[in-house]
Amino acid sequence: MSLPDWWTIDPNQPFTLGPRLFPGRIWTASGCFAYGLTGHDMKSANFTSPYQGLGAVVTKTVTPQPRAGNPMPRLAETPMGAINSIGLENVGFGEFLAETLPALERKGVPTVVSLAATRPDEFGDMVAMLHETAAGFTHWHGVEINLSCPNVAEGGHDFGRDPATVSACVRAARRNLPDRALLAKLTPNVTDIAELATAAAEAGVDAVSAINTVIGLEVDLETGRPVLPRRFGGYSGPAIRPIALAKVDEIVTRAGVPVVAVGGIGDFRDALKFFALGAVAVQVGTAQMRDPFAAARISRNLIRG
Ligand SMILES: Cc1cc2nc3c(=O)[nH]c(=O)nc-3n(C[C@H](O)[C@H](O)[C@H](O)COP(=O)(O)O)c2cc1C
Repeated sequence: MSLPDWWTIDPNQPFTLGPRLFPGRIWTASGCFAYGLTGHDMKSANFTSPYQGLGAVVTKTVTPQPRAGNPMPRLAETPMGAINSIGLENVGFGEFLAETLPALERKGVPTVVSLAATRPDEFGDMVAMLHETAAGFTHWHGVEINLSCPNVAEGGHDFGRDPATVSACVRAARRNLPDRALLAKLTPNVTDIAELATAAAEAGVDAVSAINTVIGLEVDLETGRPVLPRRFGGYSGPAIRPIALAKVDEIVTRAGVPVVAVGGIGDFRDALKFFALGAVAVQVGTAQMRDPFAAARISRNLIRG
């Protein structure tokens, strides 16, 4: 398929999101390209590196303290995607600030830092420390707050499901992030995602990222039990693309906030569908785990001529 006539954007041209100029519109999604440091040794006949044409790498979500993650197995493949329950395994914010982010800066990786916390003020504190430590970094473009984790202060319900809490988290982060883009990553596991996007917009985000994974469960027929020890997991990959398209459309038409689209994007046609609905950029998740050059290929295939 050649590119449709309506497609006039060059995804490798810089574009503005809030206070930042991003190098491009094709990004990798959180948790699907590690911290964005491991791709430098990868070789391909067609690309100089997996970073070719990338507008940003969204890092694995980082939490205030290191986390070991959930018991194994954590990932189950399905015919049209994968269900994961990683449990936010990460090095913790201290090590991330001291080692990972400076390494990303040295390597010139355009970076969006994904953060999760258990209280709104923790988001504010982490962003303030980022702002202080990385003030001079040129490749750190923004923060994506992952609002799909339990809110300990409010009894353990998902942050992302309550517009008032979305608003409180965004406000706390925005206060301390004057000069980088602020994104809120929304959960699709709600009836009205536009309501959450509106709350995030009113509290000051520059864009929302939609969608995170869809709640799913897979059963092992040998044992008769769920495959994942935690029973439920996050469903991702091609199967969720129509859900992501619907959620992105709801946000674009009703909330009027820029959307960075994510969900089931595996090739340039998939990406085009989200751009057709009005997304300003896209992220590649599960497809990037199968092929680390997936996002680079999408970026190249969206260039006309
Ligand atoms: C193994 C795995 C780990 C993930 N880890 C994170 C994470 O740490 N933070 C986050 O916001 N999203 C995480 N996600 C969700 C993805 O960033 C993305 O929103 C979701 O998978 C939908 O996109 P996809 O269908 O292209 O994978 C993870 C997804 C997968 C498959």
